[in-house]
Parts: sequence; structure tokens; C-alpha cells
Amino acid sequence: MATDETTSNAQNTVTPTAEVSISSVLSEKRKFPPPADFALNAHVSSMAEYEKLYAAAEADPEAYWAGLAEKFHWFKKWDTVLEWNSPFAKWFKGGKTNICYNALDVHVKSWRKNKAAIIWEGEEGDQRVLTYGELHRQVSKFANVLKIAGIKPGERVAIYMGMVPELIIAVLACARVGAVHNVIFAGFSAHAITERVNDSRAKMVICADGTRRRGGSINLKNIVDEAIVNTPSVRSVVVLKVTNEEVHMHNGMDHWWHDLMGLAADECEPAQLDAEHPLFVLYTSGSTGKPKGILHTTAGYMVHAASSFKYVFDIKDEDIYFCTADVGWITGHTYMAYGPLLCGATMLMYEGAPNYPQWDRFWDIINRHKVTIFYTAPTAIRAFIRAGNEWVTKHNLSSLRLLGSVGEPINPDVWMWYHKVVGQERCPIVDTWWQTETGGIMVSPLPGATPTKPGTATRPLPGIMVDVVHKDGTPCVANEGGYLVIKKPWPSMLRTIYGDDARYEKTYWSDFNDMYFTGDGARKDEDGYVWIMGRVDDVVNVSGHRLGTSEVESALVSHEAVAEAAVVSRPDELKGNALVAFVTLKDEYVGDMTLREALRNHVAKEIGPIAKPDEIRWAKGLPKTRSGKIMRRLLRELATSNEIKGDVTTLEDFGVLETLRDQESD
Ligand code: WTA
Repeated sequence: MATDETTSNAQNTVTPTAEVSISSVLSEKRKFPPPADFALNAHVSSMAEYEKLYAAAEADPEAYWAGLAEKFHWFKKWDTVLEWNSPFAKWFKGGKTNICYNALDVHVKSWRKNKAAIIWEGEEGDQRVLTYGELHRQVSKFANVLKIAGIKPGERVAIYMGMVPELIIAVLACARVGAVHNVIFAGFSAHAITERVNDSRAKMVICADGTRRRGGSINLKNIVDEAIVNTPSVRSVVVLKVTNEEVHMHNGMDHWWHDLMGLAADECEPAQLDAEHPLFVLYTSGSTGKPKGILHTTAGYMVHAASSFKYVFDIKDEDIYFCTADVGWITGHTYMAYGPLLCGATMLMYEGAPNYPQWDRFWDIINRHKVTIFYTAPTAIRAFIRAGNEWVTKHNLSSLRLLGSVGEPINPDVWMWYHKVVGQERCPIVDTWWQTETGGIMVSPLPGATPTKPGTATRPLPGIMVDVVHKDGTPCVANEGGYLVIKKPWPSMLRTIYGDDARYEKTYWSDFNDMYFTGDGARKDEDGYVWIMGRVDDVVNVSGHRLGTSEVESALVSHEAVAEAAVVSRPDELKGNALVAFVTLKDEYVGDMTLREALRNHVAKEIGPIAKPDEIRWAKGLPKTRSGKIMRRLLRELATSNEIKGDVTTLEDFGVLETLRDQESD
């Protein structure tokens, strides 16, 4: 129950990095202590216990992380916990381990051998259960396939498939032999695949013939065929049959998954890998047009993925954990694959759309499988609110004991709905703040310990030192808006941007002396709770997916009709943020509905449907500073306050903005 009433409407304002102050007017006073019966059985069961853990980790971070690392299997123990050559970290140096061994073999050697690892449900209702033993055999077989195909430790393998267990099998098989996986979200276009495969110089692509989506299917193999025309590094393509689409198998290059698996033995010794052996590259948007290949390595990632999963989700052997994230994103990597398996948990994996065949699919799944922990994104919750409570309330959700949220700030009202309608005021909510770069959860309640407040990710996990600072790096006082930084290295931190150490240093370590800059604005309240106010760079969260506005701009400008484009975001009730593109056309083109649709489709082709601008406005020119920088702040204001009614193509008159030109600093 709430201990206080809310005092005002929630609203955050974030200004871009170039400007000095970040204002926050959020005032939320409701507080929810963990339910007593939950706390009683939790891994961390009081705030005093959390404070003790936090203080010990702060006093000696290396001892804290070493203590957690001890719990894993090491072929050889490390010599040094941390070697820090700012901003380059080596964790557990000298140690040898294998994350796949820790995620599977360790359990197969225990009573968990016949425990369900993955309960999979297809969009059409088909079901599969893979025990730890079965998953281990499948992964070992596919690891042998990779070896037969000549994949060597350190070589990159791209994976492009929908949410089927083989996606996790492929990921773990790579880890077993020391290949570096590069999972590409199945919603990305051929162009996006080419870019990612080339940047990582992947040697193999693993894909499916297709993926099911809302009763239909998308042919993934055709997209891969188009993508790999321009990827000289790719030697072979492995194709899993999922939808039985018609596909073209190219002689010498393409192989069926089932043919190769038929030849492979089901035992495969895991490679004994250095602690810092690269584990995966995952591309994410930055503030320039080129996606960043975030590189994670083996042991540090393993330690934090597992321990954060255990403590934040308070995982127990009896739990059935359901995370709705796609393995194509970091949440899927850490909390749909590695975290749960390293902890020996049972997870539920659902193939398809949340509203197929109807808006109650998730609640139906929770009821039928007796899910105990549910982890989703605010954008999905907002869509459920819109669809109506009856979709939720008609199902028995009494099995649920814990709820989670990730990907963007959760509006307090949305939090309250989640708490009341889904959690029936019984389940704690863990609002988990983290990033592709952080590898695992950084700021989150511990559900048996931390009193929650709607809209805040609360306190950092033990071992994680975050702060909110001014532009000059000095700490902000309570409730003062500033920049969210991480002050000390942590084991699952990104090690670099693949192939680009200079960009890594510049992006994350150059703004605030020797501190990692997250790109987020935030404030800490009087209890030290972190309130995320959103990105302060040109990265936008649309429906929980991270997009660089400049990537969308580059895609638009690559269309023959476009002279110049600026993309900004405006708040959107459903998606969190919507993209508004201001487009200047080349002289010979006329902006009409057809061209607008053509441009939206062009962006979908270049990046993927998730990046389609929600609105395209034609502009004769874009407002710029004298040095030629687009004045995005003005465009953001225009996009937010100036509503466009109906279908009419609006020609923005930037004459009005001309007068502001001299006032805008570079
Ligand atoms: C945002 C997703 C508020 C934030 C795991 C961050 C959040 C970016 C939260 C990373 C949260 C993520 N509250 N904002 N609980 N979780 N974000 O790399 O802006 O896809 O910097 O990682 O999402 O997005 P990414």
C-alpha cells in the first residue's frame, strides 16, 4: 500500500547536452515497502542488509566482485581481479572459464539436469520444453557444427532469427567454442545486416527461413540473401527451418541447420577461454549515423549477468520467469539467455506479438504456465492500458510474485496501473535501469529490500557507483537535474566499440573526467533514488527501442528526393517518443502523400520498420546556427507543440525562426 499520496503530475524536462541545465519537475511522494512475506524469503530481505552489502562493495569493490566470481567454474583462477588502464578494463585477468559451461554443464552435473530450462510457446500455440540436459545436447551439437564449418575462437558469427529456442542454442554454441556472436534483431533490414556484418567482419550468418508474426510470416532468408551480396567476409549461411517458406539455397554457401545437426556429435568440450575473451558484439545506436558495435567479454559479463539476475529478480528454483524482450536486444542477451541459464532458472520464451491473436496473449500465457516473474517494457504496458483492463482481469494472475520494467522511464501512472491491475497490489515492481553498454542492470530495487516509488529505478546495485553530476563533473545536490555517470569500472562494462577504441574513449569517457557518461539525464532525490529523465544526446527511445536520430537522418538523405533532413523526437503516449522528420527536398521534387510514404518505407528498408518516422514535415530550409548546426532544440519544440491535424502536408515556415538565428549559440 502507498504510504503517501501523490502531490502533482509527473513531468520531466531534459535539455540537450549543449545546454547547461537540466530541469526536473517530477514530484512523486508515494512509497511502497516490499510486502512482508516477500521480504521474508528474499535473497536480500531488508534495506539494512542492502546498505551493508553496498557499503562493503564500495569500500572494496574488487573483493566484492571476486566474492561473486568464486561461485563460477574456472578452469584456471584469475591472477588479478581488475586491471584498470582508464578507460580500458581487464577483469579477472589470467583466469580461464567458459560461460556456456557455467550456464549448462554445471547444471547438467546437478539435480537440475532434467529441470526445464526453456519453456517455449509459439505464436500459434505450439509448445516445446527444453530441459537443461536437452539444451546442453543441442548446444554441444551446434558447437560441433561451428567447428566443422571452420569457425575459430574469436571469429564473428552473425545470427538473424526470430524468437525460437535455436536462437539461444546458436548463441550458447558460439560461446562454447569461443566464437563471438553478433545477434541482429530480426526486424532489421538487409542494409542494416550488411552494415553490421561488415563492421564485425562476420564469417558466418545463422538465420531462419522465416519468422512468424501476427499470424503471417516474414521471409528472413530472402533478406539475408539481399544483405550478403555485399559482405565479402561471409563464408557460409546456416538456415533453420521455422516457417517452411520457400527459400533459395545457394550451393556451397547455404546449409540447412537440420542437415548439419544430423552429422554432429552431441558432446563438445567447451573451449577454455581467457576471462577477457570477446563474447559478443551487439550493435546499438549512438549519436552519429554509424551504429556502435558494443563489445562484451566473457568472465566479467558472466559474473554480473548472473548475480544481477539472481538479486534483482530474487530468482528461486521454483520460479517460472517470463521476459518479453527479444534476444536481438541486450535485455534478451542478459536476461533471456545468459542470466537465467547461469542461475539454473526456468524461463518462458514466447515467439510472437503481444496482441496475437488478441490483447490478452501475455496474461493468458502467465495464467496457463503459472509464471511467477514477469519482465517487460513501459511501451508494452502503455499499449495494454490502452487496450483495456478486461484483457488482463479476465485471467487468473495469482501465480505472479514479481514484476519488472526496462528500457525507458516508466511514468508513475503507468507504474500504478502495472502495480494495481497486473500485480494486484501484491507484487513488487523492479524498475531496472541499464544499457547495452553496461551489460547488466545497474540501478534497480532489490524487491525484498527496497521501498519503491513509482517512476524511479531507486538505488544502484552493490558494487555499482553511479552519480548525478554537473557539466564540470561536480556532484549535483539532491533533486538537482544533471548527468548520470558511473564512477568506477564494473565487470560487465563494455570493453570498447568494436574496432574503434578512439570512438569508445570519446563517446563515454571524454565528457566527465575519468567517469563513464551514460548519455542520460537524471536526478537523485533526498533518499538517493535515481530518477532517469531520458537521453541528453541524439539518441531516442521509441517503443523501448534505441534509435539514433542521425541514423534516421542518414537513411532519409540517402533517398534521391531528399536534400537535407533533421529528425527529432516528441513525447508520445504509446511509444514513449515518436520521431518527427523535417525534410528539405531537392528542387525538382514535390512533397506529397506519396513521397511521404515512399520516404517512410525507405527508412524501413534502410534500418527497419521500427525507425519509420511517425511524421514527416516538409521544410523549405532547416533552422541553423551560423556554423551550420541544425538548431534541434527549436525543431523539438516545433514538433512537440505544433500539432498537425489530419493528413495535410504542412509546409513549415521557418521565416519565423530566422529571427532567432542570432540568439542561438553554436
Ligand atoms: C533507457 C536497454 C529509464 C536509458 C536495457 C538508457 C531507461 C537506454 C531504463 C539504454 C529505465 C533503460 N528507466 N530509462 N528503467 N532502462 N533506459 O541500450 O535512456 O537499449 O540509456 O538498453 O534506455 O537503452 P538500451
